[in-house]
Amino acid sequence: MTKLIRGGRVLDPASGLDDFHDILIEGGVIRDLGPAGSLDSKANASTEIIEADGLWVVPGLIDLHTHLREPGEEYKETILTGSRAAAAGGFTSICCMPNTKPVNDNSAVTDFILRRAAEADLVRVFPVGAISQGQKGEVLAEYAELKEAGVLAISDDGQAVMNSQLMRRALEYAQVFDLPVISHAEDRDLAGDGVMNEGLVSTRLGLREIPSVAEDVMVFRDCSLAELTGGRLHIAHLSSAGSVELIRQFKARGVKVTAEATPHHFTLTDEALENFDTNLKVNPPIRSSKDLAAICQGLADGTIDAIATDHAPHSSIEKDVEFDYAAFGMIGLETALPLTLRLVEQGILSPLEALRKLTCNPASILGVELGRLSSGLQADITLIDPLREFTVDVNRFRSKSRNSPFHGWNFKGCAVMGFRDGKVIFRI
Ligand code: DOR
Ligand code: ZN
Repeated sequence: MTKLIRGGRVLDPASGLDDFHDILIEGGVIRDLGPAGSLDSKANASTEIIEADGLWVVPGLIDLHTHLREPGEEYKETILTGSRAAAAGGFTSICCMPNTKPVNDNSAVTDFILRRAAEADLVRVFPVGAISQGQKGEVLAEYAELKEAGVLAISDDGQAVMNSQLMRRALEYAQVFDLPVISHAEDRDLAGDGVMNEGLVSTRLGLREIPSVAEDVMVFRDCSLAELTGGRLHIAHLSSAGSVELIRQFKARGVKVTAEATPHHFTLTDEALENFDTNLKVNPPIRSSKDLAAICQGLADGTIDAIATDHAPHSSIEKDVEFDYAAFGMIGLETALPLTLRLVEQGILSPLEALRKLTCNPASILGVELGRLSSGLQADITLIDPLREFTVDVNRFRSKSRNSPFHGWNFKGCAVMGFRDGKVIFRI
């Protein structure tokens, strides 16, 4: 059974291709890719034709930073509901962070996640193992076991690794298994019990603050440790102008560091918290317009390699409470692409640059042969309608959670169809 995606504008950031091309899928892989009309002779009576006129045909999107809440908090999200949300957002692969209950610091949890993901049979789910046992920051987890079980990276995300010696050892030990170390860069003492960005707005609102230097010092520490050890470092969810500049400098020195930014950090400023919407309470916090401008600049000049969601589902139990008591986190899988397309609309990124941060760049950080369109590769493909206008209704999300501040926002452009291994995993 073959499929022919015909008449679309194929955008493949890895090769730079941006042209009207057709794609033939056979046996789950891209069998052929050629100029529009050139593959018609290869279709037969049983070929399923997908008309892609007016659509973008792009590599399936890859999210480096998703929180699926299974095992342990299935009332917020399961691997199945998170996979559905991902597919609906145009993703074909997601990395799931280890801060589940129990923590993914051993092969039993990794195996469980992979089994559940296979049952869901939607997007690829790449488990991220913990840096330290129980994410307690005291003793390293067993990376050989985690690697063997299938993790593609390690991180204590959700918790900062405060012990610099432990972080140094993690960067050394992870190299043996060629695993990138993903840093949730936050000095816990500087962050204290803050709930939002430190600045004029926090003063006005009377909310306890998290200064951006809490991130900057840890970005500096981790980049320095990466330089010392030669380890591969990836900084999660950059939020401050200071850390963008630090990464720019360390990259210029040849240090192996990559970075991601989330759609909420490149879209919103702390002014949005004026109405105390707890969906805007995230860690790291949404910061000032100066920080937002620096993140956009970092995305544009390549300092920031990837766009990642930090999809963090929480239920109304954690969110319908006073700002001080609300959990940190917002969901993002179903709004990431439309928010990224706004950067294209604003002229900050070209379509290829925007897609690069959601496809081949995350793939290369993970070391997987995905995120590009080329014959012989797995047919992970997303179709985007760049002109489709819609209004976000959180009640229609596939995610089990509703904690998005983008309810009611109007967007132009979204995923309309997704294939993983040539199989349709989403259709609008
Ligand atoms: O806002 C956040 N939510 N930041 C994190 O680092 C963790 C995440 C979560 O797990 O809810
Ligand atoms: Zn984090």
